[in-house]
Amino acid sequence: MSQPARLEPVVNSPDLSLRIRLPHPAPPALLVLLAVGMLLAACLSPQLEHPQAQNPEFVNGHLVAQNRLLIPPLLAPHMENGEKVFDLTVGPGEAEIFPGKITQILSYNGMYPGPTIRAHAGDRVRLNITNTLEETTTVHWHGMELPAAMDGGPHQVIGPGGSWQPYWTINNQAATLWYHPHTMGKTAEQVYRGLSGFFIIDDENSDSLALPREYGVDDIPLVVQDKLFDPDGQFIYVHEHRVITAGLLGDSILVNGTYAPYIEAPAKLIRLRLLNGSAARRYNFGFSDNCTFHLIATDGGLLEAPVEQTRLLLSPGERAEILVDLSNLKEPIRLMSYVFTDGENAVQNAIQEQLAGGTDEGQQFQILELRPKTGTFVSEQIPKVLNTIEHLDENVVLKTRRFVLEAFTINSKMMDHERIDEVVRTGATEIWEVENNSPIYHGFHVHGIQFWVLDRNGMTPPVSEQGWKDTVTVTPQETVRLIMKFLEYSDPNLPYMFHCHNLTHEDMGMMGQFVVVDEPSGQAQIQSPPDGIKQGDHAGHQN
Ligand code: C2O
Ligand code: CU
Repeated sequence: MSQPARLEPVVNSPDLSLRIRLPHPAPPALLVLLAVGMLLAACLSPQLEHPQAQNPEFVNGHLVAQNRLLIPPLLAPHMENGEKVFDLTVGPGEAEIFPGKITQILSYNGMYPGPTIRAHAGDRVRLNITNTLEETTTVHWHGMELPAAMDGGPHQVIGPGGSWQPYWTINNQAATLWYHPHTMGKTAEQVYRGLSGFFIIDDENSDSLALPREYGVDDIPLVVQDKLFDPDGQFIYVHEHRVITAGLLGDSILVNGTYAPYIEAPAKLIRLRLLNGSAARRYNFGFSDNCTFHLIATDGGLLEAPVEQTRLLLSPGERAEILVDLSNLKEPIRLMSYVFTDGENAVQNAIQEQLAGGTDEGQQFQILELRPKTGTFVSEQIPKVLNTIEHLDENVVLKTRRFVLEAFTINSKMMDHERIDEVVRTGATEIWEVENNSPIYHGFHVHGIQFWVLDRNGMTPPVSEQGWKDTVTVTPQETVRLIMKFLEYSDPNLPYMFHCHNLTHEDMGMMGQFVVVDEPSGQAQIQSPPDGIKQGDHAGHQN
């Protein structure tokens, strides 16, 4: 703490000579050609500067953790007709990320990240959302099981000055979910500028477990996001011209909107709810003392039993809950993101290094310093059983669907607001087979449902993935089979989305739509304007 303050943002001046204007939307073949062409061009131009390529080891190693981690406040609901009603305003805002500098942000209730919404399984909730931005937005409940009309995907637009009141009964089990915009073509930018927040679900099982549960004290939500800052401390949002392969990558890390953060935590077992809220960057989490931690929950709920790990890879949109024991620590430790060299991202890294000045995935970062409070040593047992999971039965699978991911299409198609790609029957158990036929990783996310990873290239997934998921990484040449059981929310006219959760890719059209219906016969009629902006009151309708 006596070290000199170094709070200036690390800026990799964007190489504007690489600016290329793409027709919008660009045909996928053109993008691939461009990517290959740029790679070749870049390889042939050794004079291009890549400051961090020379020091890929530790991008922000010079930073002294000196900003207290911000904990997003819990949003207090009020009761109305038996519903928990939460008020949320989407609007412009300001944040003091660097002392003395005001960063312009997009905010929920004036803050970044947004307030944490918390509800219990079985609760009836209603969100009272107002958009005071001068642009259209949506609010999507990532991981939530709910009717399509309440999902907050690209069809539930909230125009400038508009409002939206979705409501549903919490069907999910205890889990760390999150909310963020899903505006057609604008998701990456709106999330990047500050729109994201946690939605935590509790249930009877989680209430009964001896797990750390004091919000912000020993149960700490952490949304990790990478940013680029200009010298005035403003976000630089990079459009697809520099990121047509990897997606937007930044060289500064914010945790809960805090730069160079630390947290003082009781010297006991603590629970971290990790959310990768970045557009494109994956984090390979671990601790600076290389300690073992316990993974207790994946995207959609608690695992059956804790899993011991020293590393945990999360791609954008994925969440994990981990327990780390601070009881024997004499000194602070740091949550880190380590280089992962599994080979599969070599091509991506090579391209990205050339295109984006070395802001590639072969970088490691310090993420958060954890300072155990002295004099509070408590040692605890971790429950051996966390959850009872009813496994989905492969023998009752009604249909297997195949999704081939390419750069940047799914089954050779780009997102079309008016095209329904898949029609699913309510209650059906299906296998979705997702193949990555491109040289870069993609994340696959399905709305409205939690699934289970059956296998990866025919192999049982690691124990750390044997739990409820809604987002998975699919690496190049990999086929991941997902099993899922659709719920009873039938709606022939409003679709759910499936897409790559690299938000840059999603905005480039790497997304499709499915409807869930009781009778998969008639043609679906999309009841929502393609790029429509609904002004004023727009209550979600019930199925
Ligand atoms: Cu986190 Cu379709 O989104
Ligand atoms: Cu992708």
